[in-house]
Amino acid sequence: MKVLLIGSGAREHVIAETLKKNKQTILYSYLKSKNPGIISLSKGFEIGNYNDLGRISDYAKKIKPDLAFIGPEEPLSNGVADLLTESNINAVGPTKSLARLETSKSFTRNLLKKYRIEGNPKFEIFNRENIKNAKGFIDDLNGCVIKPDGLTGGKGVKVQGDHFKTNKEALEYCNEVLQTHPSVVVEEKFEGEEFSLQCLSDGKNVIAMPPVQDHKRAFVNDKGPNTGGMGSYSCEDHLLPFLTKKEIDKGLIITQKVADAIYRETGEFYKGVMYAGLILTKEGVKLLEYNARFGDPEAMNVVPLLETDFIEVCNAMINQNLNKIKIKFQNKATVCKYLVPEGYPDNPAKNKKINIRKVPQNARIYYASVEQREDGLYSTSSRAIACFGIADNLENAERIAEEATKSVKGRLFHREDIGTKRLIEKRVNHMKEILG
Ligand code: GLY
Repeated sequence: MKVLLIGSGAREHVIAETLKKNKQTILYSYLKSKNPGIISLSKGFEIGNYNDLGRISDYAKKIKPDLAFIGPEEPLSNGVADLLTESNINAVGPTKSLARLETSKSFTRNLLKKYRIEGNPKFEIFNRENIKNAKGFIDDLNGCVIKPDGLTGGKGVKVQGDHFKTNKEALEYCNEVLQTHPSVVVEEKFEGEEFSLQCLSDGKNVIAMPPVQDHKRAFVNDKGPNTGGMGSYSCEDHLLPFLTKKEIDKGLIITQKVADAIYRETGEFYKGVMYAGLILTKEGVKLLEYNARFGDPEAMNVVPLLETDFIEVCNAMINQNLNKIKIKFQNKATVCKYLVPEGYPDNPAKNKKINIRKVPQNARIYYASVEQREDGLYSTSSRAIACFGIADNLENAERIAEEATKSVKGRLFHREDIGTKRLIEKRVNHMKEILG
């Protein structure tokens, strides 16, 4: 079984490791940078950009894989799934059109609205012609979120109270977005606790993986600027401390309806990961956004829990028989903590040497944005190393992940509080306050 994996982050490192648990897997990888973890698991690899469709196509034709897995959003938004399908290569990951679930915020909001799927906030979409109506809409909301309509690498979304204060500033940001994007989505701001529900879809059947909570702020105690995610946890009971099974099921119901709506709207089946960014509010579970891929770091929390062969799961997504296989997850708690360059995200210390000493036996590390050079490992401007703990309960998983951070030396920092009892209690109390 030849598998081509596209992507070079920690998310793809854990995907590679899990694909290789099947002894038949021969892994090839197409990476943007030399991730030593993925390369050590690969029989062959190619370095190139995710928009170099010719290079990806040539490499895929040379390898002739039985299966391809596309990890990040960038190749999905460039149509790599379409390209592979044209060469008769089965790909896990949506086509360019269906990746609009992530790349076009207006597509997703309009889809939920048209098919009367619950979970949407109040929202309006503005362009240069109707932007004059934005003031009235924003004034009627009790706090807003502004989303450029397109991929922004996690940096474009701005939340009132966090990134700006007044309605005037909201309007100014809308106008700024319209300089570079054809439209901007303005939404009602939700109050609550966020969680990630990563679902596997074959276009007809949707299966939820255990829920995960990510931590976006850079510093301990949820201080500092937003990041791609500083770390995440999941629990052995496949719930979260502030979340019931009913609320998780609601997220799955919404996602199943979205998969059905995508088919009705486009005539195409969505084969890949539908990552629902959800929030529990006083009014129930609401949808913040969808991503067309696994989360990073959230992939680290769920993919290693799979008891079912990942190759079998991928084939079931492609062959549309996810309902015919039993997908099982270990009842373990997980904690992932990202080591990131000092100064990240605003002024990261890049090109700095990283040394990895003895990793504790029960911990794992996954390589993210690092560069393997002849004289060792170096940081780049983004998240460097994911330290991962898995155990029977959260306390032990957190301790293992924290221990693992000590084996990595360099100009890096991490959030010690992720997965700790104190922070979890804060989340639970926040939710109690909101629910009243
Ligand atoms: N952790 C957030 C994301 O993957 O987009």
